[in-house]
Amino acid sequence: MAVIEVNHPLIQHKLTILRDKTTDTKTFRENLNEIAKLMTYEATKNLKVEESTVETPIMKTRGYTLQDKAVGIVPILRAGLGMVEGILDLVPTAKIGHIGVYRNEETLEPVYYYCKLPEDIAERKVLLLDPMLATGGSAVYAIDYLKENGVTDIVFMCLVAAPEGIAKILNKHPDVDIYIAKIDQGLDSNGYIYPGLGDCGDRIFGTK
Ligand code: PRP
Ligand code: URA
Repeated sequence: MAVIEVNHPLIQHKLTILRDKTTDTKTFRENLNEIAKLMTYEATKNLKVEESTVETPIMKTRGYTLQDKAVGIVPILRAGLGMVEGILDLVPTAKIGHIGVYRNEETLEPVYYYCKLPEDIAERKVLLLDPMLATGGSAVYAIDYLKENGVTDIVFMCLVAAPEGIAKILNKHPDVDIYIAKIDQGLDSNGYIYPGLGDCGDRIFGTK
């Protein structure tokens, strides 16, 4: 397994827009999807392709095609939804599942409320999405859930991560690769990532 910080100037520029507390909802959503798209390029670099033959205007040559069941996308509700569109731009054949987990504000423990997965999810490489990895409770819950449903190939993609959350995934699920736009400093007394970007779900959906 690996922890990869995708330290690209385009991503860091867009992340700074997301961190800015004056950024409006529309701009926030656009930049989040753009970062997700850029990170997908890295996170899918080991996808399997099938050899094929393609006829160019000049001659026949070897080509490479993604398998139909190559990718599944599973956003953790709500904030993971903010990354889906950007990824679909690159992998339009992906099927999409949803896992609903929210964090109890006092205990910080994950609370499950919904799940719907594609039937063939176990055959796919699953990109599990949540912009925020704080204590890691939600991500570990979602990974447990996917594995219980037969998924063996999981990549977790997030925007900002606290070291505490990374350690929790590494400890419980050492086989899962983690792609992160930026590893932040830690968690404050309310369990928020600092410097972070605040409550990501609220900023995506304009709920606060
Ligand atoms: C946020 C975030 C993660 C979780 C991270 O969701 O999107 O799912 O908190 O925290 P953790 O690593 O400590 O579990 P939240 O509970 O605010 O739900 P929401 O997306 O519906 O707003
Ligand atoms: N969830 C968020 O949306 N932000 C944080 O900083 C931590 C959890």
